[in-house]
Amino acid sequence: MIDSNTMIEFRGLFRHFGQTKAVDGVSFGVERGTVFGFIGPNGAGKTTSMRILATLDQPTAGDAFVDGFSVVEDPDRVRHRLGFMPDYTGTYPNVNVREYLDFFARAYHLRGAKRERAVEEVMDFTGLDVLADKPTDGLSKGMRQRLCLGRALIHDPTVLVLDEPAAGLDPRARIELREMIRDLAAKGKTVLISSHILTELSEVCDTVGIIEQGRLLAVGAVDAIQHPRHKARQAKKVMEIRLIGDTQAAAEWLAANAQIEKPQTDGQKISFLFDGDRQQQADLLRAMIMADFQVESFGSRRQSLEDVFMQVTEGLVQ
Ligand SMILES: Nc1ncnc2c1ncn2[C@@H]1O[C@H](COP(=O)(O)OP(=O)(O)OP(=O)(O)O)[C@@H](O)[C@H]1O
Ligand SMILES: [Mg+2]
Repeated sequence: MIDSNTMIEFRGLFRHFGQTKAVDGVSFGVERGTVFGFIGPNGAGKTTSMRILATLDQPTAGDAFVDGFSVVEDPDRVRHRLGFMPDYTGTYPNVNVREYLDFFARAYHLRGAKRERAVEEVMDFTGLDVLADKPTDGLSKGMRQRLCLGRALIHDPTVLVLDEPAAGLDPRARIELREMIRDLAAKGKTVLISSHILTELSEVCDTVGIIEQGRLLAVGAVDAIQHPRHKARQAKKVMEIRLIGDTQAAAEWLAANAQIEKPQTDGQKISFLFDGDRQQQADLLRAMIMADFQVESFGSRRQSLEDVFMQVTEGLVQ
């Protein structure tokens, strides 16, 4: 283990299904008490990596560790320390919320008063206490997600692995889920969470990793994510210009400028990456006006997680 504060570690992990390289040499670590966001398009390898971490599948090569224990060598110790919320969980007819949680508490060998306390604590934390006697198959999507989170928490694991927990939730339920995840991190739990919803992850995560075709393309703090091969990328700003009149001519004019990368036209808006300081930005605005373009608005912003995602991934599928 590299250091005792690293609660999750992927070390040169591979998982191949025939020709498909679902996970293709992934390595990274997650520190205690932090939330790591796994972002990637469909088929990127998020679920496969998470299932291996949860000991539900075996790597083709490499290893993964939870609190220093190998998923290959020590799966039992891993299971005691890890709670997994899969992307789909079924419910059962004729089982209410309390019975459902109690069943999973029994599966983790919790007994007597300890088990009752675990069920009560989880219902209290997830806000399910008011629905304790409700049948699980009648729950709304939001409440069902709470139940699945509760089930993952029942044995008080130190590491939580949540596969797209926000999928299908309404805006309020998303915010509530986010608060629960931050709460868990504040209590010292280490969380690995996957999503396609980038803005969602930027709110809740300390660190994010972008994965595509089984490879980790970028990893870093949300506000300073770096591309491993092009670290200079983060210095570039996203510029957005709104024009009145012909945007095509302006786009062509801009494309000829060496400081401008990846210009994109969207209606009356042109956006691009700009590699320059504030003075050069002002010079560009003056040059555009001198060239007779009717600039309605001109501004820059830092790259969002979404920008980085679009640059780093190429939309490849397998
Ligand atoms: N059991 C399996 N047998 C064969 N191929 C599989 C199996 N499980 C996953 N794959 C393939 O591995 C790749 C990665 O799938 P995975 O489910 O890990 O992606 P994901 O990032 O979770 O995608 P999504 O965002 O759609 O959930 C895909 O190409 C998928 O078809
Ligand atoms: Mg998945």
